[in-house]
Amino acid sequence: MKALILCGGFGTRLRPITHTMAKQLVPIANKPVLFYGLEAIKEAGVDDVGIVVGETSKEIIQAVGDGSPWGLNVRYIHQEQPLGLAHAVLVSEEYLAGEDFVMYLGDNLIKDGIKGLADEFRTNKPNSQILLARVKEPQRFGVAELEGGRVVRLVEKPDKPASDLALVGVYMFDGNIMDACKAIKPSGRGELEITDAIQWLIDNGLAVDPHVIDGWWKDTGRLEDMLEANRIMLETMEPACEGHVDSESRTEGTVVVEKGAEIIGSTVRGPAIIGEGTRIVNSFIGPYTSIYFGVEVVGSEIEHSIILENSRVVDIPGRIEDSLIGQNVEVGRSPLKPNAYRFMLGDNSRVGII
Ligand code: TTP
Repeated sequence: MKALILCGGFGTRLRPITHTMAKQLVPIANKPVLFYGLEAIKEAGVDDVGIVVGETSKEIIQAVGDGSPWGLNVRYIHQEQPLGLAHAVLVSEEYLAGEDFVMYLGDNLIKDGIKGLADEFRTNKPNSQILLARVKEPQRFGVAELEGGRVVRLVEKPDKPASDLALVGVYMFDGNIMDACKAIKPSGRGELEITDAIQWLIDNGLAVDPHVIDGWWKDTGRLEDMLEANRIMLETMEPACEGHVDSESRTEGTVVVEKGAEIIGSTVRGPAIIGEGTRIVNSFIGPYTSIYFGVEVVGSEIEHSIILENSRVVDIPGRIEDSLIGQNVEVGRSPLKPNAYRFMLGDNSRVGII
C-alpha cells in the first residue's frame, strides 16, 4: 500500500500566512502539521509516500526531503494548479500505478492516527473506505449517508444534512478511484471533487465502507482551527526543560523549554512550548501558547497564540491573545512622534486594537 499526501492548494482561508508559506508547515505545538501526518502514515505500516505539491513545493521538499527521518520513502508529484482533490489523484496516476493507497490531506490532524482505518481496509478489502467523524455543524462539511453498514450517498455541504457524519481528510482507495476521477466533471466551484469520485464508485456498484472515529480531528485550514489544534496537542505533552530558566522566572503546569531557549524574569503558565533559541524576557506566556524558534518576547504578555520563527514582540502594553503571528514579524511600540499607530501589514492581514 502507498500513501498520497496532498500539499498543494491555495490556503486562502489562512492568508496572509499562506502568502509566504505552506499551510501544511505551520507548526502545531512547534511541529509542522504535515509531520503529524507523516508519523501517522508510518505508524499505519505504509512506507512509500507521494506528496502532491503546488506553488509551495520548494518549502515542502526542503522540510520533508526524501522522508528518511521518518523511515519513509518520499516522492514528489507536481500539480500545476489546485484543481481539486480528485485532480490531485489524476496527476498521481503514474506514481500510484493502480495500487491500493491512503490519501491524506496534508493540513489535517487526526489525534489517534490512522492505523485502525488502514488495518480495517486491509482486512475487509472494500474498494474504498472513508474516515468519518460526528460533527455539530454537518452543513459545513462533506456528509455521508449510511445504509446497512455501507456508504450510499455523499453530499458536499448539504443544506439539510441526512446525518452528522462528516468526511475527515483521510480516504482509502483501490485502483478503481482512477476511473472515477477520470469520469467525473468539475463541480460548480470548478474543482474535481473527491466526493463526486467516491459517489461514482457507489453508483457503479463498488463497495465504499465507513470508518467512524471517536477521537479528535481537525482540518487546520482556518485560524480558529489552528489554535484549537494547538490547544489539543499542547495538552498531550510532557513537561521538559532543555533550555535555561533563571531564578527570577517561574514555569507552571506543563511547559516545554526547548534547546537553547532562555526564560528570564518571566512567568510561563502551561500548557505552553518555548522553541529553540527563543528568549522570553520580563514577560508572561499564558496557557495554550506555542512559540517557535529564534523568537524574542520582551516586556509583553501572550496567551492562546502561535508565534512563528524569528519574530519579535517587544513592550506591548495589552495582552496578546488568540493570535497567529507569522515569520520574521516585528510587533513593538512606535517611538516616533507624533504618537501614532504605524503598520506595515501584508495583504489580508488582520489587526485588533483595544
Ligand atoms: P483545501 O483546504 O480544501 O483547499 P486549499 O488548500 O486551497 O485552502 P482554501 O480552501 O483555504 O483556499 O485543501 C485540502 C488539502 O488538500 C490541503 O492540504 C491542500 C490540498 N490540495 C491539493 O493538494 N490540491 C488541490 O487541488 C486542492 C484543492 C487541495
